[in-house]
Amino acid sequence: MSPKNYFIEAYLQFTSETLEELPVLIERGQRECCLLGVKEYELDEESIDSILGEEAYCTADLSEESFEKIEKYLLSNQHLYTFYFNKGEEGAFLQLIQKEYPYISYSLQEKEVSDWNTLWRSHFSPIPINESFTIIPSWQKEDETIDSYKGEKLYLYPGEGFGTGQHETTFLCLKTFLEQEISFSDEDKVLDFGCGSGILGIAALKKMNSKKVFFCDVSESALENTKSNLAYNEEDSVEEKNIFLREDFPDELKNFKFIFANILLSALLSEAEFLVSKLAREGVILFSGILMHQREELIHCYTKLGLTFVEDDEMGQWAVVVMKKKEL
Ligand SMILES: C[S@@+](CC[C@H](N)C(=O)[O-])C[C@H]1O[C@@H](n2cnc3c(N)ncnc32)[C@H](O)[C@@H]1O
Repeated sequence: MSPKNYFIEAYLQFTSETLEELPVLIERGQRECCLLGVKEYELDEESIDSILGEEAYCTADLSEESFEKIEKYLLSNQHLYTFYFNKGEEGAFLQLIQKEYPYISYSLQEKEVSDWNTLWRSHFSPIPINESFTIIPSWQKEDETIDSYKGEKLYLYPGEGFGTGQHETTFLCLKTFLEQEISFSDEDKVLDFGCGSGILGIAALKKMNSKKVFFCDVSESALENTKSNLAYNEEDSVEEKNIFLREDFPDELKNFKFIFANILLSALLSEAEFLVSKLAREGVILFSGILMHQREELIHCYTKLGLTFVEDDEMGQWAVVVMKKKEL
């Protein structure tokens, strides 16, 4: 069996004091150390059974002692996060922890899974972005349980990449986009730059009438995932010719009325001239993927290139920034 069929779960225990290191550690893990995903500690039925032992099975009414037991367990695990890696790719991250964050305690467990998606699936459930827009796992498309979610539904297969709406940056991007009062004509173009699963561009297709949404990523597998998700959402108007690897993005394709760019700061800075050159006059760009303290650097860089600041928002340690190209 190939090493890719095993995964490493690294359990990191933060304290109230070290918890503020979490977003930076996730960012560095993704950028420098092949970190695949992070899950906050959660208490499911199985965990409750294992905490309570036989008590869990003997009665439907739990005693006060049982509640105390659960509470104690919860308090001791409230800052536990699971970091996921393909087996063999966890080394750089462990070195990072040992060298720069020795005060964060961790343990590891190897898990055998035949398919990475099995793991994602078990942690991915419907995510309401607001009252009228919900992300639904594609395998729940036919479930009656999803009827309770009102409004637009975006069906998503997470693939191996990023972009389920579970992450603050994706959630913030969607929420901010849905709040924008922009009207699109049939001719207006939208670019989902760093599309991952395609979640943001597909949301644009659903929100507006224009079918001119383009997708771009550096990763072939992200583009394949985007194509599957377009199919799950029956968005057949997007042709293959609207989906590009970054290196193949055509020079002549420009004048986008709206651009999504949910990528780490380093990529947003190195792609700044490219992104600004692709915006139409008065076009809007929505940046995410940046930490709160990186906001000023991003705004400064894009202001120098002729954009103006419109608004920003935050969630946890993450920020979203909206900027606009000035009229000439
Ligand atoms: C944080 S994920 C965002 C995925 C999705 N758009 C979302 O909001 O959930 C960033 C994506 O950007 C892609 N990416 C990184 N650098 C890039 C670049 N220079 N040009 C285009 N895509 C890039 C990565 O492959 C990844 O799929």
